[in-house]
Amino acid sequence: MRLQKYLAHAGVASRRKAEELIAAGRVRVNGRVVRELGTSVADGDRVQVAGRAVEVPAQHRYVVLHKPDKVMTTMRDPEGRRTVADLVPRELGRIVPVGRLDYDTSGVLLMTDDGELAHVLMHPRFGVEKTYRAVVRGKLAPDDVKKFLEGVRLEEGSARPAKVRVVRASSRASEIDITIHEGRNRQVRRMFEATEHPVSSLVRLRFGPIALGSLAPGHWREATEKEIAALRVLAHAAQSENRT
Ligand code: URA
Repeated sequence: MRLQKYLAHAGVASRRKAEELIAAGRVRVNGRVVRELGTSVADGDRVQVAGRAVEVPAQHRYVVLHKPDKVMTTMRDPEGRRTVADLVPRELGRIVPVGRLDYDTSGVLLMTDDGELAHVLMHPRFGVEKTYRAVVRGKLAPDDVKKFLEGVRLEEGSARPAKVRVVRASSRASEIDITIHEGRNRQVRRMFEATEHPVSSLVRLRFGPIALGSLAPGHWREATEKEIAALRVLAHAAQSENRT
């Protein structure tokens, strides 16, 4: 595998940034600084970036599911309701959901057997950006938008600032795209409730670099290499942040 691809797979940086690191002489293979972009890395080679060892993780599965509503984001439900496990084939192995969507929320859900990546992406200190489309009662006033930008007050304390974009508005109901960085329980629903615009439907359009796109409810696909690399870059950045 080419060195820049190896670094991107390991989550060190995007392929472009990896090329810059190589050209800048910050990458060593088996102890020697390597500046040639096409350099191949074979099994057993030791790769270091800025003195730190870098490894491509073992093969894992990354699955993007369009969770429909009326489905539990668990692998089993004691009450016998449909779960996400009913929507992905067993052959995909021991994949589990990264985070949770409410029973009544649909949209993009990442599932993986990469426990380490999942752990970092779910860590409350490190907020993956998530965008939801909400249908809410009534029309948002400028003051409501300000509340979202400043951090809606919730029972347990203020939420972090959220971006909202009005997609369609009428006095009866509005469609709003909202982007948050946290994953508190029923957070989006509670934020809109707090501004007296209860949610009647909620769809997650994006989870970090993964967009729902045209994936139909109940359908799944493998994440693309580009998406996986972007997730690793995110997780790597989070880990570096936690180290400082
Ligand atoms: N916020 C909610 O209220 N529900 C979800 O499922 C996700 C975010």
